[in-house]
Amino acid sequence: MSALLDARGLRLAFGGVKAADGIDLSVMAGEFLAIIGPNGAGKTTFINMATGYLRPQAGTITYDGAEITGRPPREIVRRGIARSFQLPQLFSEHTVEQNIALAIASRAGIFSPLAPLLRPAWREEGAELLERFGLLPVARQRADALNEGTRKLADIAMAVALKPRLLLMDEPTSGVAASEKMAVVETLVRVLRQAGVTAVFVEHDMDVVERFADRVAVWSQGRIAALGPPAEVLADPAVQRDVIGIARHA
Ligand SMILES: Nc1ncnc2c1ncn2[C@@H]1O[C@H](COP(=O)(O)OP(=O)(O)OP(=O)(O)O)[C@@H](O)[C@H]1O
Ligand SMILES: [Mg+2]
Repeated sequence: MSALLDARGLRLAFGGVKAADGIDLSVMAGEFLAIIGPNGAGKTTFINMATGYLRPQAGTITYDGAEITGRPPREIVRRGIARSFQLPQLFSEHTVEQNIALAIASRAGIFSPLAPLLRPAWREEGAELLERFGLLPVARQRADALNEGTRKLADIAMAVALKPRLLLMDEPTSGVAASEKMAVVETLVRVLRQAGVTAVFVEHDMDVVERFADRVAVWSQGRIAALGPPAEVLADPAVQRDVIGIARHA
């Protein structure tokens, strides 16, 4: 397997806080890599650097063989990296299908609320995407009327509408009711695997990590403290003490 994304020596400090203190990480094509670690460890900071929302003060990020360090988010999306946010970024007053249509149109550089009307092909593509995510029943509902699990899926469907090869998801299950959580993850993993998308996801639920991650990276104070298969990493006493013992249950 070859590295799709390669981060070397990433550093970024906010005042005295080292949010990234020498991050080296290769994300392999086709894998699902989970990022775990306590609050404030720098997990979101890594995603922000990889997607152009933050520029590292040192280090390089290479994607598909080209350096993308510090490139703007829109260019990075165009190259094939999409993301979802800790808090879903849906247009709350629009319906689910309108949100998806806007994402599809933005891929073509069109950022208009009328975009869905422009091309019937986009409507079809949107319906097909909603079907894959099991969102057809809520297609006509406003985004702000959705429960959290459905909102998360809709947010990820928007990211998938950008046709990424790599998707970085910041806490796709946070705020999702425990009873819904596994179904949400099963759906998104099935869609992403079918589409051949490589995925990095920040996760606080160790059951989800154990079941769906090929590898897990443990973040601690801006560094990667452990990296490997979940069965190995989650059994590490230091990880159990420092991460799992204080895992946040959202
Ligand atoms: N834009 C910013 N300005 C100042 N400090 C920041 C900024 N972004 C992050 N930080 C700080 O950097 C550190 C790492 O933050 P980050 O959001 O990456 O952590 P995290 O691992 O995602 O935590 P959480 O699990 O709470 O989401 C924290 O101390 C945070 O307060
Ligand atoms: Mg975070």
